[in-house]
Amino acid sequence: MRTKIHLLFGGKSAEHNVSLQTAKAVMNAVDQSKYDVQPIYIDGKGLWHKGALLEGKVDDAKLLEYKQADESVSPLTLTETENEVVFPLLHGPNGEDGTVQGLLELLNLPYVGNGVLASSAGMDKIAMKAIFAQAGLAQVHYVGFIRKEWEDNKENVVKNIEQTLNYPVFVKPANLGSSVGINKATNREKLIEAITEALQFDRRIIVEEGVTAREIEIGVIGNEEPECSVVGEIVPKTEFYDYQSKYEDGDTALIIPADVSDDIYNSVREMAVKAYKALDCSGLARMDFFLTENNEILINEVNTMPGFTPVSMFPLLWENSGLDYPSLINKLVELAIERHEEKTKIRYTFD
Ligand SMILES: Nc1ncnc2c1ncn2[C@@H]1O[C@H](COP(=O)(O)OP(=O)(O)O)[C@@H](O)[C@H]1O
Ligand SMILES: [Mg+2]
Repeated sequence: MRTKIHLLFGGKSAEHNVSLQTAKAVMNAVDQSKYDVQPIYIDGKGLWHKGALLEGKVDDAKLLEYKQADESVSPLTLTETENEVVFPLLHGPNGEDGTVQGLLELLNLPYVGNGVLASSAGMDKIAMKAIFAQAGLAQVHYVGFIRKEWEDNKENVVKNIEQTLNYPVFVKPANLGSSVGINKATNREKLIEAITEALQFDRRIIVEEGVTAREIEIGVIGNEEPECSVVGEIVPKTEFYDYQSKYEDGDTALIIPADVSDDIYNSVREMAVKAYKALDCSGLARMDFFLTENNEILINEVNTMPGFTPVSMFPLLWENSGLDYPSLINKLVELAIERHEEKTKIRYTFD
């Protein structure tokens, strides 16, 4: 029996448009001799649109048809038949953060990528860093706080930050991605400004000590026995890797493989696997690191649904490691089925 892949794309998030690009690329790369593909577009309001099954190649016009499919379906209709896998091509909140994953768990469907725990812990930079610290992974110094603490006593929050961290600092909403709402602050005045802005995007804020460092990334795939790709390096043209340089300029240089020593590569790989296991990741993740001038390796973050167009870092890392884009998609679908089978071993009753 053929397997049906439900491709979820779009989504109620700032990365909606990125997801559209990814969906087009995945639709064109997936092995249609092996899989039936059901595109499901999630619009900006969170409504699901289920159009016709995928047939042949997809261009922008075809993608628009999928987007305009007027049938707005309930997510619960996904339980139709057997041999189904869901591939959430969604980034950011409402897609990469465990919410969609929780729904798919309840529906008992295999799905590509990380489960609820890894997705939600990976999305919240404060929770993520606490788990990394517990696992003994080196990272930048940071302070986390919530809106209420800020509103109640700004002086106290500032004092705590200035006692713990040296300027410059990076102020970030804890739960976004794509560098949205992130600002660098070099003094108290800028810090307050940056916090005020970040609070527009989240009620949880993280402030980190800024480091001068190269940005090194590695791809990880697998379930119980994660494997790593070669490492890549990002060289942003702007002061830091902000939203504009990620999605609009397109001229941020990606160097793959990155020019690092074997020792550095091995340490990054070891740290990436440790982080992957600490968060209980499955399927895939991209782990991002800072490599300082003293060759200190600090973990920056995990992306549980990394950029996934054919020209994004994650697929390129794997292509350079011998796994091309269609094979990567196949592998992820297989891993989803494997993890789902692993779960069927769990007993839910005892007597
Ligand atoms: N502590 C830091 N020191 C130096 N640069 C940083 C620091 N934190 C973030 N940056 C810069 O900001 C970018 C975005 O921050 P990041 O934490 O990766 O957020 P996002 O989840 O939005 O990608 C990084 O790629 C890096 O260029
Ligand atoms: Mg990042």
